[in-house]
Formats: sequence, structure tokens, C-alpha cells
Amino acid sequence: MSAGGNSDARGRRIATRGRPRPPAAPVEASAQDDVGVEARVVAGLLLNAALERRNGLDEALSQPPARALAPVDRAFARAVAMAALRRLGEIDQILDRRLNKAPPEAVRTLLRVALAQTLVLETPAFAAVSTAVKLAERDPKTRPYKNLVNAVLRGIGRDGPGLTTAESNLPDWLAARWKAAYGEAALAGIALAARQEPPTDLSLKPGVDPAAVAEGVDGEVLPGGSVRTGRRGDIAAWPGFETGDWWVQDAAAAVPARLLDLKAGETALDMCAAPGGKTLQLAAAGASVVALDRSAARLKRLEQNLDRTGLTAEIVAVPAEDWDDPRAFDAVLLDAPCTATGTLRRNPEVLRATRPAEVAKLADVQHRLLDVAAARVKPGGRLVYCTCSLEREEGETQVIAFLRRNPAFRTVPADPAAVGAPAEALTPEGWLRILPSMWAERGALDGFFAARLERTALG
Ligand SMILES: C[S@@+](CC[C@H](N)C(=O)[O-])C[C@H]1O[C@@H](n2cnc3c(N)ncnc32)[C@H](O)[C@@H]1O
Repeated sequence: MSAGGNSDARGRRIATRGRPRPPAAPVEASAQDDVGVEARVVAGLLLNAALERRNGLDEALSQPPARALAPVDRAFARAVAMAALRRLGEIDQILDRRLNKAPPEAVRTLLRVALAQTLVLETPAFAAVSTAVKLAERDPKTRPYKNLVNAVLRGIGRDGPGLTTAESNLPDWLAARWKAAYGEAALAGIALAARQEPPTDLSLKPGVDPAAVAEGVDGEVLPGGSVRTGRRGDIAAWPGFETGDWWVQDAAAAVPARLLDLKAGETALDMCAAPGGKTLQLAAAGASVVALDRSAARLKRLEQNLDRTGLTAEIVAVPAEDWDDPRAFDAVLLDAPCTATGTLRRNPEVLRATRPAEVAKLADVQHRLLDVAAARVKPGGRLVYCTCSLEREEGETQVIAFLRRNPAFRTVPADPAAVGAPAEALTPEGWLRILPSMWAERGALDGFFAARLERTALG
């Protein structure tokens, strides 16, 4: 029996007592009945929605037929789709070795869903294969391929998947960019981080004891004070959630707000604030915070988290460039809209959704927003610019161009140790370029770029 769980007679994962270890999948849908088949249909729909469009997976999850599934089956369908997305290159490599010619897309989807279960989630092979064959039977488009599905999956089960490389999961154009920007070793590390389901990181309210939170969730305290746990499942049931002791935020995402080094009583503007992890940090530092975002819907999450944690911020739903308010601030944070390629561990769909043309389009938006942010900084005040992108056009290139057109600003070099960032993230210019290949021994972290700038007292 494994330390973290076992399977019952129907192939469902069941919990065992003792120190909880994250199961390979949060849950297994039932294998022998129509519910198990339906969950796998939805897994295929979610996978294809993610491959088709940005945010496709989340949108599809909130609509029928995913919404009609029981929570346990919906969680299973999501876990399968996420596993397939993380390992898509490897799964296709394995399939292509077995297929003489490309099958219809609906058949490939069935096979991808089945392999995500057997190779990643450790679903018993009999359950994954029998449901895949049942699925093939149900649809007239896939019915003629029923025997092929059976033969391919049984063949892989019998002979093993063969060798695959983590880098095959990365689109060629992104891998080429990252190799050119960060080198071969970093690219290999990014690929390894991208194929793992990441742990969950918690940022704590001031006064909350990190060691006690870590003990409550079987986690560890990271440099910088975030708590990291491999626990899965409903976070609302974890100790400290209801009492508002913490909020979920990747350890790298917690770095930029710390760079502002806010003091109690200072004023701060979070200019692209939603859903609000960084606003909570600014409020927790005792600052008087304005949280601004163009999306009222995304700001709802911030409102809920402020209520839960008892922290306060003034929320304004408006595009930053249209904000008709004369105030300037001691500290301004611009966490700009970006391709989000740095979040590939948590959102593997960004690998498929990001298009080369988007990088340039978003770089224009960032350029514009940086100038709007600069105009809100008091003389002598600080501006932190950050993005969760691995693309230099959305990080270094932006700051270089900004400093050229704004001589009143200069870089104040970051101290990685003081803000909980890996030491190797520090660039020669004093900015932070955090890569998902860093802290590999601790479970990695999201990719982020962050620069701390200061307006001269006279500027
Ligand atoms: C990277 S997200 C911010 C994440 C947030 N800082 C956090 O830590 O949770 C970027 C945000 O920018 C917002 N946004 C995009 N264009 C904007 C604009 N012109 N003015 C204000 N907000 C904008 C988006 O709605 C989105 O919520």
C-alpha cells in the first residue's frame, strides 16, 4: 500500500491515514459505469477547449456538460485534462510511434485522455482502456476506430511507453526563445518543472506564525515566509482558511510586492490588481491601498479575500488610463497584463494559447501602462513593474525603454534574499528574472520578472 492512498475495487482512489502525501490524481472517477465514461468525455472536451483558446479550460468547466457532473467526477475530468496538457508532447510522441497514419482528431483525443490517466495519474490500465473503448463505441465518428483504440492502448500497456523527453511538451517556438534567452540548462529545467503538478503556496497575514501554518497543512516555510504544501483538495477546508490567516499565491508571485518595501501609513496603488494576491500583501503591510483593475468581475475575488482576511483596500473598477483621480502615491505596483508564460506549471494551457503575435501586442499595452503608472508616483516614490511572463519583451526590454524615455526614474537594485527570491534570479542590472527552473529541489516556482524603480525627489 502506498503512503498516500490506495485504490478500491472499482479503481477509485481512497484515502489512508497518516501523513498525507499528494495523490497522483485528486480523485478517480468510477470506471465501470456511465459516470466514469462521462467524466472522460468531459476530460476530452476540457482538453480541446484549452487547446483552442486562452481560458478555454476554465470556461468549459463552468458550462454543461462539465457543470452537470458530480464534483468528484468534475475534479477527475479536470485532473485528466491538466495531465494531458502538461504531457501533451510526450503523449503524442508515444502515440505516433504506434499509429501508421494520423487518426481523426476525435480518436486522438480519446487516446490522449486514456494515456494521461495511465502514464500520469496512475489510473489502473483496465479502467482507462475499457472506458476509452466504450467512448469510441458511443460516437459514430469514432466507432470504426474502436479496435485501433483498444490495440494501441493495450500495446503501450504491454510494451511500455518508450523513451520521451520533457522538452517535447514545449512548443518549438517557445523552447527556441527560452533557449536563446536563458540557455540550454535553464530550458531543460523549465521543461522539467512544466511537467510536474506544482505544490500550493500560501502567503500569510502579518502576525500569523508560519511554522504553525506549515504544520497544519503538512508544509514547509520558504525563504520569504510563504508556506508550501503538497496537499490537494478543497483549500476552504484547510486550517486557517476560514479565519483568513492566509491566501493562495505562488512563492514567485509574492516577490514583487515585497520589493516595494512598504511602511505602515504609506500610500500605495496596485494598478492592475485583480484577482488581488498582491493587493492583500500591500494591505497586510499596513499601507493605505487603492486596488484598481479594468475588470469588475475579476475584482470580486479580491473583495471576497479582503472580507475573509479582514484586510482593507479601496477598490476601483476602471481602466487605469481612464481613472479620473488626482492622487499620486508613495508606491505603485504595475503587475501588467501579459502572456503569462511563466505560469506554465499551474496553467499548462498558456503553452498552447500563446501566439507569437500576442507578445508584441501585449508589449504595446505594457509600454502604455508603464507610463500611466509612472505618472502616479510621487517625487521620491517607488514603482515596481512586474509580469509573470518568460518573454524578455515583456520584462527587461520594457524597463530598458521606460528608463530611456523617463530620466526621472532609476533602478534600485533588488536584494533577492530580502524578498524571498532565488539568488540566481538577480540580473546584472539589479532586476529579478525568476525562472521555473530555479528552486528545483524545493518544487520550483512560477516565472516572473520584477524591477524596482525610484522617481528622483525632484522628478
Ligand atoms: C497579471 S493580472 C494582475 C494580477 C494581480 N496583480 C494579482 O496579483 O492577483 C493583470 C490584470 O490587469 C488588468 N488590466 C488589463 N488592462 C488594464 C487596464 N488598462 N487598466 C487596469 N487594469 C487592467 C486585467 O483585468 C488583469 O486583472
